[in-house]
Amino acid sequence: MRTFRWGIVGCGNIARFHAKAIQELDGVRLVACVSRSEGSAKKFAQEFGIRWYPTLDELLDNVDVISVCTPSGSRKDIVLKAVSRGVHVITEKPIEVSLPAIDQMIEAAERHGIVLGCIFQSRFGKAEQELKKLLDAGEFGRIVLGEVDVRWFRSQEYYESADWRGTWKYDGGGALMNQSIHSIDLLQWYLGPVVRIFGWAKTLARRIEVEDTAVAVLEFQSGALGVIKGCTSVAPGFARKLGIYGSKGSAEIVGEALVCYGSQTPKGEVLMSEEGDTSSDPMAFPYQNHKRQLADFLNAVREGRPPLVDGKEARKSVELVLGIYKASKEDAVVKLPLK
Ligand SMILES: NC(=O)c1ccc[n+]([C@@H]2O[C@H](COP(=O)([O-])OP(=O)(O)OC[C@H]3O[C@@H](n4cnc5c(N)ncnc54)[C@H](OP(=O)(O)O)[C@@H]3O)[C@@H](O)[C@H]2O)c1
Repeated sequence: MRTFRWGIVGCGNIARFHAKAIQELDGVRLVACVSRSEGSAKKFAQEFGIRWYPTLDELLDNVDVISVCTPSGSRKDIVLKAVSRGVHVITEKPIEVSLPAIDQMIEAAERHGIVLGCIFQSRFGKAEQELKKLLDAGEFGRIVLGEVDVRWFRSQEYYESADWRGTWKYDGGGALMNQSIHSIDLLQWYLGPVVRIFGWAKTLARRIEVEDTAVAVLEFQSGALGVIKGCTSVAPGFARKLGIYGSKGSAEIVGEALVCYGSQTPKGEVLMSEEGDTSSDPMAFPYQNHKRQLADFLNAVREGRPPLVDGKEARKSVELVLGIYKASKEDAVVKLPLK
């Protein structure tokens, strides 16, 4: 079996989750990193016993796959360069912050025959995977309502901890585009395409450019309705909730626990639960879901198939969030797909 050489671009918080996960995977070797500043790259290289390179070009000469862990709005040029050099790419979420940038990345990856993926590690959680199976099996009858409830807390210090946080250019948005996007991605994965959306996104509690408090209502192509609450302004921060409600039963993921009201458990029972609570601490989650997703990505590269979350899948939640921003700005219902 060929051993793939893996590199990391952007040596900050989430890069460490990738590094730990990659070092536990078979058939791959974490070999190198590059960052904006030499200091971050050197420190990271020492921490994980790998090489660091001063430039992206030099890194790309020495790897087969990269994880892009730089700020959300800085990925397009990195991805375009990597795929043109035959290097497979998995980015952090969101894949980028504008649809033209994402479309360029998807087109370039396809043209060069490169696998492009994006981390949405929640899709690999045990609760989330089980809920997908139950939904696909029709356990809950006709789904009528989906709900995302993210009432989290991020302090002013959090936003000031890096110059890109809370900016339109590099964060691409706030409570929706950065934090709630995991649950928004799950909602559309479970219930399918959204056709209409209305919402308000406001900055109420933090000194940032982007929203810290947002609400939206939506209609799915199936006819089901949806509600999204996305906040980073709420003290003390509550466990996120994702609800799927149907004519024969319902399920809620509360924190990392799946509570199911189905044919076997009509009164509601925790079917499964894992650790992790990012309601007030952004990094308080285990890297196991990253490891599962990176393993899927690696298998996709080996097998020449798309990963579970490829560029097109990753585009969907960004489009939804941009739809909410448009609705809020224009004070009008917005139809999807966005023109
Ligand atoms: N999947 C998840 O649950 C999850 C969790 C957290 C973050 N993320 C995502 O991961 C990405 C990075 O987040 P993070 O928390 O790891 O951020 P971070 O700690 O600030 O790390 C970002 C790194 O990227 C480098 N960088 C490159 N270009 C940059 C630029 N133009 N401005 C600022 N930094 C730049 C920085 O390098 P230097 O240090 O060399 O300057 C920094 O070390 C974001 O897109 C975020 O949405 C995902």
